[in-house]
Amino acid sequence: MAWFRKKQEELTVDQLPKELIPKHIGFIMDGNGRWAKKRGMPRRMGHVTGAQTFRKIVKACEARGIRSATFYAFSTENWKRPQDEVDAIMNLLREYLKESLSDFKSENIRTKFIGDRTPLAPDILALIEEAEAETAHKTGLTLNIALNYGGRHELVGAMRVLAERVKAGEMAAEDIDEQCISDTLDTAGQPDPDLIIRPSGEYRTSNFLLWQSAYAEYVFMDVLWPDFSEEHLDKAILQYAKRNRRFGGV
Ligand code: FPP
Repeated sequence: MAWFRKKQEELTVDQLPKELIPKHIGFIMDGNGRWAKKRGMPRRMGHVTGAQTFRKIVKACEARGIRSATFYAFSTENWKRPQDEVDAIMNLLREYLKESLSDFKSENIRTKFIGDRTPLAPDILALIEEAEAETAHKTGLTLNIALNYGGRHELVGAMRVLAERVKAGEMAAEDIDEQCISDTLDTAGQPDPDLIIRPSGEYRTSNFLLWQSAYAEYVFMDVLWPDFSEEHLDKAILQYAKRNRRFGGV
C-alpha cells in the first residue's frame, strides 16, 4: 500500500484500487443562482443548467462504480425563496422524473427520495412513489435525491419514532444506540457518505446529512454547480483517496 500512496499523485480514478473509491458521495449542488447572475440570466436558469449537471454527474458516478450518491436538491429552508424559484425547481424535478420513468428500464439505478414528503404536490409525490417502486430491484448505483430535506428535521423525526416505540413498550430507552438511530433515518440501510463535495466556494454543511457525515471527508471546490464536470468529480475522488481516514483512531 505504501508504494501505492506514493504513486497516487500520478494515478487516475480508473487506476485506483476499489477500496480507495468512495462508496457513497454526497453532493451539495450549490452556486446555481450565482452562475445565472454572472450571465445576466434569471436565477431559475441556473437551476435548469444545474439539473443538466445533476444528470451528467449521476451517470459519471455510475460509470465509476460508486454505490450511493446523494444530491441535495431542495432543503427544508429553501421554501423561503421566491415562489417562482421554488416552482422552477419543482418543475425541473417533475420533468426529470417523467423522463426518467421511461429510461428506468435501460438503467440499473435505484432511485430514492430522502426528506419530508408531507408538503409536496400530489403529482410530484405520485411520480416519486412510481420512480421508487419501478427501480427498487435495481442493483447498480443508489441515487438519493434529498428533497425538502434537512438533517435536523430528519433527526427530529427519528427521535419521535423512537420515543413512540419506547412509549408503546416496544423498546427500552437504554436500547437506543447509534445503530438504531441510523436505522431510523431516511438513509437506513445505506453506507454513510465517505465523501461530501461542495462546489461554489462556500465552506458550510448547510444541514446536509448531519448524522451520516460524522466521518465524511469534505472536498470544497471553487466551481459553481452548473460548471461542475466529470473532471471535478475525479479531482475530488483523487483528493479523497489521498486522505488518511482514522475514524478517531491513530
Ligand atoms: C443551490 O444553489 C441550489 C438549489 C437550492 C437547487 C438545486 C436544484 C437543482 C440543481 C435542480 C434539481 C433538479 C433535479 C432534477 C434533481 P443556489 O441557488 O443557492 O445558488 P447561489 O448560492 O449561487 O444562490
